[in-house]
Amino acid sequence: MDILLVADIHSGSTVSPVHPKAKLESGMSVGPNPFQKRILRPFWLEMCKVPVDRAITLGDMTDGKNVKDEGCGVWSGNVSLQTLNAALLLRELNIKPDEDGYKRIDAIGGSGYHIGSNPSSDQLVCSKINELNDKSAVKFDAHYHGMEFILNAEKSKIHFSHKMSTGFYQGTALNRELMYSYLYQYDIDGMIRAHIHHYHMDTDGNRFAVSLPGWKGRDKYLQSFGLKYLSQIGWVILRLEDGHWSLHPTLKSLKNIIKTVRA
Ligand SMILES: [Fe+2]
Ligand SMILES: [Fe+2]
Repeated sequence: MDILLVADIHSGSTVSPVHPKAKLESGMSVGPNPFQKRILRPFWLEMCKVPVDRAITLGDMTDGKNVKDEGCGVWSGNVSLQTLNAALLLRELNIKPDEDGYKRIDAIGGSGYHIGSNPSSDQLVCSKINELNDKSAVKFDAHYHGMEFILNAEKSKIHFSHKMSTGFYQGTALNRELMYSYLYQYDIDGMIRAHIHHYHMDTDGNRFAVSLPGWKGRDKYLQSFGLKYLSQIGWVILRLEDGHWSLHPTLKSLKNIIKTVRA
């Protein structure tokens, strides 16, 4: 079974993917900027060519008010428009329909300051994905599972949640949590995290811990940390087969888009 892992789309941000049918409050289309048009859109469509059995989104599907940049850096802070854009994007994924003809997406919630909590935008995106079935021959079945869940498939148990601490070296946070799971004898084969917008994988040969790339470029907040958070965009395929797991990342580093000033 091939599972597409998509994290941190941050729909609404001016440095995140935008669907051609996404609308502003005026009803006009969003109109992508060069970064969205030349880098994000083609890379998103590349992901949408990959056939998978199902997809799991790991939170921060919307940017909300982008609190840390004081409301700047979004094309709209309107939750309804941000969730619609995210739903339109996710309905482009190449997911094999199940026996009933539905393409399955599972989701967890992200960081409160991007998605709110009553209800979270990640939950609303799932509702919107399903609502859009009425206007399309393609049917999706999106499920929101709150802040964490364990997937039990192909004799493997994988734990999903969004947040992890944002230390300088991602491996420290991942290994600490993996160690807790040993200490408390949680019966899992792997854990998948998002939030830091960077791929990092560790394994002891049996179990694994991985953080995912995201889909948001470098906003002002990230730039203020210099090279600490370079940010990657991309996706990961989790392959589960009869008790075996493997991870297949496709990544684009954004380190080369930092402005260069010539003397
Ligand atoms: Fe995020
Ligand atoms: Fe986050």
